[in-house]
Amino acid sequence: MRVLGLETSCDETAVGIVDDGHTVLANEVATQLAAHQPYGGVVPEVAARAHLDVIDELVRRALATAGLTLADIDGIAATCGPGLIGGVMVGAMTGKALAAVRKLPFMAVNHLEAHALTPRLTDRVAFPYLLLLVSGGHTQLLRVDGVGQYRKLGGTIDDAVGECFDKGAKMLGLGYPGGPLLEQAALRETTLPFPELPRPMLGRAGCDFSFSGLKTALRQVIDKAGRAAASPDFVTAAARAYQAAIADILSDRARNALAIIGEDNSSPVTALVVAGGVAANQAVRARLTETAADFGLGFVAPPIALCTDNGAMVAWAGLERLRLGLTDPLDTAARPRWPLAAGDT
Ligand code: KG4
Ligand code: ZN
Repeated sequence: MRVLGLETSCDETAVGIVDDGHTVLANEVATQLAAHQPYGGVVPEVAARAHLDVIDELVRRALATAGLTLADIDGIAATCGPGLIGGVMVGAMTGKALAAVRKLPFMAVNHLEAHALTPRLTDRVAFPYLLLLVSGGHTQLLRVDGVGQYRKLGGTIDDAVGECFDKGAKMLGLGYPGGPLLEQAALRETTLPFPELPRPMLGRAGCDFSFSGLKTALRQVIDKAGRAAASPDFVTAAARAYQAAIADILSDRARNALAIIGEDNSSPVTALVVAGGVAANQAVRARLTETAADFGLGFVAPPIALCTDNGAMVAWAGLERLRLGLTDPLDTAARPRWPLAAGDT
């Protein structure tokens, strides 16, 4: 069984093809980075137009890379939300058109579910598992019990963690998108002392996150440093301190979630899994590996190309749904908001 998946919910246009042998047959991504760079962030109208410009070509490229034609595809999946609605509509319409023309089943995929199920594509993780979903728009701890079965244990009360990385990087003059640039800056060495930054919510009960206090604290240190804040040593020291604080917060919240799950002996989780763009961060991965080990659990993070937005993850979520007969009508609407867990907003 082979499924083609389309992803257009943010600033990557992506088309992937996967099969039920867990093989990624194609994973084509066109990033719009250059188009948004002048604005320092994603501009929805620019994004929608850019998706439209390249999506057909990406479908062609994905099929060529896989050495297939549409006749070899068993289903079409497209991200139908949540995300920037103009962009989501481009992928959804393209997917529906392909499904209609080829008379193939169509799967309307939730972007968060695509991230959530990726570790099953890459590492065949068995249900249930604890998922830390960390992206530019989302920060959540979810218990994943099955396809479509998610229980939210906690989420952010202010910024998403990817946003926190991006804003910190911007304050340090590192540019956009900030997460990867801040990680690179933090890899350099420095002996410059730097004040300890706060870790909001650390040690508190529950699994919610907060990042705004950390962001404000960095702003204050930068303002106090004045012109010295532009020195490479300062930027390195700040990036290291900021990234360490974020990794500590994520680890502490995951620890609480694992403790809560551990109290319910009836259905222990099989692993701690991280997904979403921030899962590309090595410092975050290292802290979470320790956290999982403290609970006798394995830690699973998809390869970086499958952590950030991509088409293979959408194709895989579509394939999992298709196997269960969970297909969707072609009039399924694109949705700007689409919570994953019941009762969540
Ligand atoms: O999942 P994703 O590709 O798109 C969304 O659905 O949001 O996540 C993008 C986010 C951005 O905030 C980006 O800065 C962050 O993930 N990110 C990173 C790294 N790579 C991407 N943050 C920290 N370290 C990284 N290496
Ligand atoms: Zn994403």
